[in-house]
Amino acid sequence: MIGNSLALLVLSVALFLYLRRRPRSLPPGPRGLPVIGNARDVPKNFEWLTYDRWSREYDSDIIHLRMFGTTVIIINSMKAANELLNKRSSIYSDREHLVMTADLVGWDRDIGFMPYGDKWREHRRLFHQQFRPATVHTYHPKLLEEARKLLPRLLFQLGDFMQPLRTMTASMILGVTYGMELHTDNDPYVILAEKAVHSMAATGNMGSYAVDYLPWLRYLPSWAPGAGFKRQAAEWKELVVEIFERPFVSIKQAMSLGKAPPCILTTMLEELDPKKDNSDRETMICQVTGTAYNAGSDTPVSSLGTFILAMLLYPDVQRRAQKEMDRIMGCDRLPEFEDRGSLPYITAVMKETLRWHPVSPLVSYKLRADDEYGGYHFPAGSIVIGNAWAILHDKKRYLNPEMFDPTRFLRPDGELDNGVPDPVEAAFGFGRRICPGRHFAADLLWITMAHILATLNIQKAISEAGNVVEPSGEYTSGFISHPVPFKASFKPRSPASLDLIGSRSSLK
Ligand code: HEM
Repeated sequence: MIGNSLALLVLSVALFLYLRRRPRSLPPGPRGLPVIGNARDVPKNFEWLTYDRWSREYDSDIIHLRMFGTTVIIINSMKAANELLNKRSSIYSDREHLVMTADLVGWDRDIGFMPYGDKWREHRRLFHQQFRPATVHTYHPKLLEEARKLLPRLLFQLGDFMQPLRTMTASMILGVTYGMELHTDNDPYVILAEKAVHSMAATGNMGSYAVDYLPWLRYLPSWAPGAGFKRQAAEWKELVVEIFERPFVSIKQAMSLGKAPPCILTTMLEELDPKKDNSDRETMICQVTGTAYNAGSDTPVSSLGTFILAMLLYPDVQRRAQKEMDRIMGCDRLPEFEDRGSLPYITAVMKETLRWHPVSPLVSYKLRADDEYGGYHFPAGSIVIGNAWAILHDKKRYLNPEMFDPTRFLRPDGELDNGVPDPVEAAFGFGRRICPGRHFAADLLWITMAHILATLNIQKAISEAGNVVEPSGEYTSGFISHPVPFKASFKPRSPASLDLIGSRSSLK
C-alpha cells in the first residue's frame, strides 16, 4: 500500500516537473470552429480593437487565433514586441505571402511585400542609402518649398482640405525620387497614387480576402460566382504596374535627352556600369523608386489628417502650439528645420499624432522557425501580428490614451522627456522591417505641422445654414487607416501671417 502511494507520488512529481519544463503550447484565445477556426470571430473592420479587448479578457498580452488551419499570434504589448519582433527579428521578419495583394494585384514589386531573403535585403539596402538620416537632410529644401506652397492652397481650398495635403506629400516624394514638379491638385500622378494605394490598403491585411487562406481560389475563372475578387484584382493590377513603370520610363527617357532633373532615380541610374548588362539592376531600381512613391505618398497624408482632426477637437493644444511658434519665430518669418530644437511642443504634437491614431494599426510578419516565449510555443509558419494600436493605447505606458495630449511627452520645464516611450517605436513597425522611410516621414510631418501652426487657424467649418460642422472623428479600417473625410476651415492668424503666406510661397 505504502509502496503504491510512493510510486504514485514519484509519478505525480515527475509529471509535474515534465509539464513545467514543456512550453504550455499556444497562448489563450477565443475557441474557434472546426476547419474555419476563428474566421467568424474576427471582425472585418477595426480588428485591432477586438484584439486589444481579447488581450484584456484573456489577461494575456499575447493571444492566438486559428484561421483556416493557420496559427495567428497577436502581440499586444511593447514588452513582448520588443522581445520577439525586435530582439529576435531574424526569425520574425518574413512576410506571409498574400495571394490577393502580391500575385493578383501585383504588389510583389513593393519592398514591403517581399519575402525575407536576399532579394528583399538588396532592395532594402538600396532604399536605405537614399532615405537614411544623412541623406534625408539633403531633401530639406524640397520639403520646405512644398510646405510653403501648401499654405495658400489650404487657405483657398473649397471644402476638401485633404486634396492640398495629398498634393504636397506627393510633390515631396515625387520631387526627391523622380525630380518631378506637380502643379495642380489634380495631377495625374497624385490621382494614380491615390487609386493604386487604395488597393494596397484594401488588401494588405492578411485575411481581407479568403484567397489569402485558401490559395486555390485563385484558379476560379473570373466569371464564376464568388470570383468578384479576381475581376477587382485585374483592375487594380493595371494601376500598380503603372505606378511603378510610368515615372521610371518617363525619367529614363528625359535622362537620355539630358533633360532629367537630379533626383534619387538619376543618382541610381548614373551609378550603373554602362559596360555591363544592367537589366536586373534596373528592375531593382524601378522597384525601389516605385516603392518610395507609393509607400511615401499615402501614409503621411493619414497622419496629417489626424493632426488636423486633433487641432479641431483640442483647440487648447492648437493655441499652445501657436504660442510656442510665436515665441520662437515672432511674426516675420516661417519655420526652418534648424528651429526644431527650440520647438519641443511642436515635436510633441507630432509624436502624439503618431500615437493617437497610428497609420498602420496592425503590422504582420511570418515566423520562420519554431519559437518559445513566456512558456508558450509558436510554430514556424505562424502569422505574427504586432498590434501597434494596442501598444500605443496601453494605459500602463500612456495615461488617458484616448486623449490627444502632447504634454505627455514633455517634462514640467517644457522640454522633451526622453523617459516617455517614443511612439515611433511602434508606429513605424518593428525589427528589421521597421519603416525605412521614417526619417523622411518625421521631417515631412514636422515641417508641415510647423508651417500650418505658424500661419493658420484651423477651425471647424460652418455650414451654409450657419451651423458648426462637427467632425465625426471616425476612421477607415484596413491596412492603412485614414480619418473619414471631414470639413475644416483655415484662416490666416494675422495680417502678418497673410504676408508670409503670400510673399514666401509661390503657388504655381
Ligand atoms: C507617417 C508616415 C509613415 C508611417 C506611419 C509609416 C509606417 C510604416 C509601417 C508601420 C511599416 C511596416 C513596418 C514593419 O513591417 O515592421 C512601413 C513599412 C515601410 N515604409 Fe513606411 N511609414 C510612413 C512613411 C513612409 C515613407 C515617407 C516612406 C518612403 C519614403 C516609407 C517607406 C516604407 C517602406 C519601403 C516600407 C517597407 C519596409 C520593409 O518591408 O522592409 N514609409 N511603414
